Amino acid sequence: MRIIAGSARGIRLGPVPDGVRPTSDRVREAIFNSLGQFFDGGEVLDLYAGTGAVGMEALSRGCERAVFVEKNGRAARTVVENLERAGFGERGEVVRGDVGEVVERLVEGGRVFRLIFADPPYRISPRESGSILERLEALLTPSGRLVVEGSQPPAYSTERLKGASRRYGGTVVTFLERIQPTMKIAICPGSFDPVTAGHVDIIRRAAAIYDHVVVAVGANLKKRPRLSAEERARLIEKVMSDLENVSVEVMEGLLVNFAREQGARVVVKGLRAGSDFESEFQQVQLNRRLYPEFETVFIMAAAEHSFLSSSAVREIANYGGSVRGLVPEEILEIVQRLYVREDAQAAVGGDKG
Ligand code: PNS
Repeated sequence: MRIIAGSARGIRLGPVPDGVRPTSDRVREAIFNSLGQFFDGGEVLDLYAGTGAVGMEALSRGCERAVFVEKNGRAARTVVENLERAGFGERGEVVRGDVGEVVERLVEGGRVFRLIFADPPYRISPRESGSILERLEALLTPSGRLVVEGSQPPAYSTERLKGASRRYGGTVVTFLERIQPTMKIAICPGSFDPVTAGHVDIIRRAAAIYDHVVVAVGANLKKRPRLSAEERARLIEKVMSDLENVSVEVMEGLLVNFAREQGARVVVKGLRAGSDFESEFQQVQLNRRLYPEFETVFIMAAAEHSFLSSSAVREIANYGGSVRGLVPEEILEIVQRLYVREDAQAAVGGDKG
């Protein structure tokens, strides 16, 4: 077995360990011809890696990094040796473990790959490989490709992947990609503790640009919020109920994972004074590392909202002051009541004006 093309072209790989059924050079060549031959960066995931020949072919042809997953210890060592042989020691990571479990960990870690190869042993049940395939969708970049080998086309049921199978002798190779959603969905994330008139302005303006806006209410925040995520979400639902293309969801984990689940690659945020810029800039960079196709779009706050914040609303309401004009009128009374301190409540005698 050898690397067919690219920077490591012609390099011979080590002997195939017992029990491994490697993809033949002919099938590998056919796969890369179908994929468009060469790449410019991006990560590749080689599942049931065997000798690692497929992932290494992708590295040789321009992919930046590769993760190889292999359960068999002897085969995993062969992948490490082959990486060294091809001069890819620094660009490959070999994970020894059960593919289903490793895939779950990669999904939880928010990893994404431009190319994913899966060559499950013919003895694993179509049901098992089918359920792994459904999970792999979450690991693909929006334009990423998933290549599955087998003796027959894989059994999977997902509405989000489309593809075609080709037969090369006894091997069936299925090429899958995401069905690109035609709807442009944007996420408006935030703590919303509580939602302010400034937030509502940004959400409404986003809803006028995008087909659908999902307001994502952060559940796990650095600072403990006054209200639970569900309560904060209900307040937003109350003020956005007139817009059909706005929905409100609680967001448990990372923003990038939430966006992927929602089929969105755009986040819309409001930008007030320059002081917002630094933390927003940092978040944009981090999110782009986790999800390269992810874009953050900023809408400038209206002048009358440029000094408005949830913390200012909390502070004023806390001491029983009026937040009229700072939060939407529909939730004014409830915000005054929920955010007032108990002793302040007594001092203002329940008068929320
Ligand atoms: O209104 P806020 O406090 O600016 O909102 C912050 C929020 C919820 C948008 C942010 O904390 C977030 O995105 N949390 C989800 C967890 C996450 O993805 N963190 C990494 C961001 S770099």
